[in-house]
Amino acid sequence: MMSIRQTVTAGVCLTLMGCLAVTHAVTLEVKDGNSTCIKAVLNANFSITYNSTNGTNSVVFALPDSASTDNSTCNGTSQRLVASFGDGHALTLVFSRNGSLYGVTQMSLRYNLSDNSTFPQSNSTDVVTVETNSSRISASMNSTYRCLSSSPVSLNADVTVTFSDVHLEAYMQTGNLSTNESVCSADQTVTTVAPPKTTPAPSPLPTGVPERGNYTITSDNTTACLLAVVGLQLNITYFSTTRNKNVSEVRNLQPNKTSFSGSCGVTVATLILTEDTTNLNFTFTLNSTSQKFHLSAVSVSARWPDMTVVFSAENSSLQYLQGSVGRSYMCNSEQTLAVMSDFSLNTFRLQLQPFNVTRNQFSAAEECRMDQENMLIPIIVGAALAGLVLIVLIAYLIGRKRTRAGYQTI
Ligand SMILES: *[C@@H]1O[C@H](CO)[C@@H](O)[C@H](O)[C@H]1NC(C)=O
Ligand SMILES: *[C@@H]1O[C@H](CO)[C@@H](O)[C@H](O)[C@H]1NC(C)=O
Ligand SMILES: *[C@@H]1O[C@H](CO)[C@@H](O)[C@H](O)[C@H]1NC(C)=O
Ligand SMILES: *[C@@H]1O[C@H](CO)[C@@H](O)[C@H](O)[C@H]1NC(C)=O
Ligand SMILES: *[C@@H]1O[C@H](CO)[C@@H](O)[C@H](O)[C@H]1NC(C)=O
Ligand SMILES: *[C@@H]1O[C@H](CO)[C@@H](O)[C@H](O)[C@H]1NC(C)=O
Ligand SMILES: *[C@@H]1O[C@H](CO)[C@@H](O)[C@H](O)[C@H]1NC(C)=O
Ligand SMILES: *[C@@H]1O[C@H](CO)[C@@H](O)[C@H](O)[C@H]1NC(C)=O
Ligand SMILES: *[C@@H]1O[C@H](CO)[C@@H](O)[C@H](O)[C@H]1NC(C)=O
Ligand SMILES: *[C@@H]1O[C@H](CO)[C@@H](O)[C@H](O)[C@H]1NC(C)=O
Ligand SMILES: *[C@@H]1O[C@H](CO)[C@@H](O)[C@H](O)[C@H]1NC(C)=O
Ligand SMILES: *[C@@H]1O[C@H](CO)[C@@H](O)[C@H](O)[C@H]1NC(C)=O
Repeated sequence: MMSIRQTVTAGVCLTLMGCLAVTHAVTLEVKDGNSTCIKAVLNANFSITYNSTNGTNSVVFALPDSASTDNSTCNGTSQRLVASFGDGHALTLVFSRNGSLYGVTQMSLRYNLSDNSTFPQSNSTDVVTVETNSSRISASMNSTYRCLSSSPVSLNADVTVTFSDVHLEAYMQTGNLSTNESVCSADQTVTTVAPPKTTPAPSPLPTGVPERGNYTITSDNTTACLLAVVGLQLNITYFSTTRNKNVSEVRNLQPNKTSFSGSCGVTVATLILTEDTTNLNFTFTLNSTSQKFHLSAVSVSARWPDMTVVFSAENSSLQYLQGSVGRSYMCNSEQTLAVMSDFSLNTFRLQLQPFNVTRNQFSAAEECRMDQENMLIPIIVGAALAGLVLIVLIAYLIGRKRTRAGYQTI
């Protein structure tokens, strides 16, 4: 049995973004008789939440090299790329054309929850299929669709597919990807200044206190059911290729480059954040007996430039950010959430409400202990100053009384 949770090793630096997100792309090719009709070179990362015997679990894994395109079809006006992998999993892209344009009009993922190596402790053995008709993949006929930027597509609240380093063409005329490119809008804003064939400078890493992101999950399209406002900093210890040793690297999550999704349940809520090659998955659990909620699980996967393999970590027995149902949890102080020995998260100016959100806004806040202690300091200092003033005043009054008494004896 093959595990699809395999690691993606550092690959060659083909392009600017390819370099930043040192990855290893998968090549998929579909033939119609002797001629190639679809060719795709891309990275795809799947982030899936499922029910396990322990509660809700989340996994992140990449489309493996070994994916087969045997069930693809190219006849007719609609072409179909089916990448099958592992124990009955498959990603399907359905293309259609329209005048001088072609594009992906339907995308689906089938995954087999019986596959224990990918979905440990799943309490279901179902083969699940999820799909969407909204995809931003579209290009001019006879051109290659190019999108180096990371672009997540949510198939439903539990499943997100994130593509990056994409080069693909359907309705091909020759066996090679066309040199004419249709560049996605995300790339156009990112790579305008980059002259080709020069060594790219590493992007300046955001440092200092992270900016606050505002992540709202809705149950239908308008009613918020999970609210989170927080600055996030990741701290990952991994083996660095260039320095040939373990390093701890700290990175801020940049809200304006972060996409998010999630789900709200009666006792379990999730929030998934994706920035470029970094995926973070939070699970909040409600204890209906104690009427308290807490952050119960965090999983991460990341492919930072200096990593030799994808870093992934998960801990599903956490007890962080505990608050009462019907209130929000607030912590303005910096807080460190240790997830694993090699992964921790620092939170800044956090406010959170994963359950019972009403009127699309936070309920009254419960402050964390650190904030309460921080508020004590000015009170203590104030009290000390008041005490000092009092002592000086008493000393002065006593002094004045003595002096007056002295004059009287002369
Ligand atoms: C494929 O190519 C071979 C050799 O060029 C040729 O004999 C055969 O007829 C071709 N098959 C199709 C379906 O075009
Ligand atoms: C988990 O189980 C609950 C209850 O059976 C169900 O409502 C929910 O949709 C399931 N979630 C997933 C991700 O399958
Ligand atoms: C699977 O897990 C969910 C949530 O943990 C639970 O509600 C459901 O009853 C479980 N299903 C089975 C068949 O055990
Ligand atoms: C799902 O996985 C199980 C166990 O890995 C395997 O026996 C079964 O054939 C798979 N189902 C499909 C449809 O491939
Ligand atoms: C085809 O083009 C027409 C006109 O531009 C547009 O209304 C329609 O939605 C397109 N269909 C597809 C499948 O892209
Ligand atoms: C694409 O290329 C083929 C062959 O080179 C040509 O026949 C066709 O008209 C082109 N299509 C478009 C929309 O440019
Ligand atoms: C949410 O919005 C999308 C697109 O606007 C629409 O297709 C969908 O039906 C809406 N869902 C609900 C539950 O309103
Ligand atoms: C990052 O983690 C390392 C190892 O756990 C620790 O020594 C370091 O202080 C952490 N840095 C920050 C900024 O959290
Ligand atoms: C994101 O925000 C930072 C700081 O506000 C800004 O410098 C950067 O240009 C923004 N990036 C994008 C893609 O909007
Ligand atoms: C819920 O809270 C109660 C009371 O604090 C505790 O006894 C129980 O173990 C908790 N249940 C879970 C599943 O954590
Ligand atoms: C599930 O629970 C068992 C025991 O309660 C624990 O040992 C195991 O690590 C848990 N697994 C996950 C994935 O949370
Ligand atoms: C998961 O988190 C718990 C609570 O913080 C901790 O005790 C445990 O050691 C962690 N598990 C691992 C494998 O680091």
